[in-house]
Amino acid sequence: MEQPCESPVPDYGRRLVNWYRQHGRDLPWRRTTDPYALWIAEIVLQQTRVEQGWPYYERFLHTFPDVYRLAAASEAQVLKAWEGLGYYSRARNLHRAARRIVEEHNGHLPADVQQLIRLPGIGPYSARAIASFAYGLPCAVLDGNVYRVLSRVLDDPTPINTSRSRSHYQQRVDAWLGRNPSAAFNHAIMDLGATLCTPRNPTCDRCPLADVCTARRNGTIDQRPLRVSSTVVRTLWMEYYWIEHPDGRFYIRQRDESSFWKNLWELPRRDLPDFEHHPPSGYEFCRTVHLLSHRELRLRLVAQPYETFEPGPSDRLIYRREMNEFTFPKAIRNLLEAFDRCRPTPRLF
Ligand code: ADE
Repeated sequence: MEQPCESPVPDYGRRLVNWYRQHGRDLPWRRTTDPYALWIAEIVLQQTRVEQGWPYYERFLHTFPDVYRLAAASEAQVLKAWEGLGYYSRARNLHRAARRIVEEHNGHLPADVQQLIRLPGIGPYSARAIASFAYGLPCAVLDGNVYRVLSRVLDDPTPINTSRSRSHYQQRVDAWLGRNPSAAFNHAIMDLGATLCTPRNPTCDRCPLADVCTARRNGTIDQRPLRVSSTVVRTLWMEYYWIEHPDGRFYIRQRDESSFWKNLWELPRRDLPDFEHHPPSGYEFCRTVHLLSHRELRLRLVAQPYETFEPGPSDRLIYRREMNEFTFPKAIRNLLEAFDRCRPTPRLF
């Protein structure tokens, strides 16, 4: 009798879904099918680790429980809820998209990948995630974790950061998804990348794909995924000024729209070509370094006399306790914490 022919291609998708059903992480956005909540989760989780994003997701939904409340909020309120997460354009886009969803889609996120992509801040990844998690549409997502799992299991040397990468790997992951349930499949492949198939020291002995992992067999796990080196990190030297009124208030300044941290608050500042050849223009309290995606910020805080300072239209005098009414980038809060540590008597009024 003829034996049924075994498929030469492993059923990666089914293995992943079965593994997920036993080992998947219990995360709050996996207990809902509310498209609004799932959208917020995906935007919070872009470039943010789950542990860091979790409290923001819960607080954001508490503050803006539905798309109407988000659309009705001011930009400052939305930025405040986002404070500390970074990438503030994500918050601004959420806000803009909420208004569009109310005005153009009757308050419902569209159940269609192409229509989702047309909304501000929703790219191919988020559109596919929302479409599969909220509406069960058959689309597979591609994010950093997924690139890593695919390139290792297939031992695929195609770099993951070129213009071709996306369509190349999208075809691979679509084939893996096949007819599997898309939400479970997407959660599974993301979880595998986040918990076992990690960038360094992967836990291959617990991986459901270990026996079919080509990079493991070839000893190339550490070389996958391949990247072409391109990102140039620019260093910026930013001198901030501590200008204190005799009553304890100090000057803060709102940034303009022209660069990063748009409309957020900082202290009066001067940009310098470097610190080495430009000594501080007053007593230097402290220095910090802060990394953004394409910039390394070098900050120093310098004393300036109150009497000679001429405030501009975006400068305000505030007490320290009023800081929470404004949105400051994390780098500025860190700089002020460094200041508190170096000051003999911190003044916290
Ligand atoms: N990262 C991005 N989206 C995620 C999700 N839905 N679950 C876990 N991690 C994620």
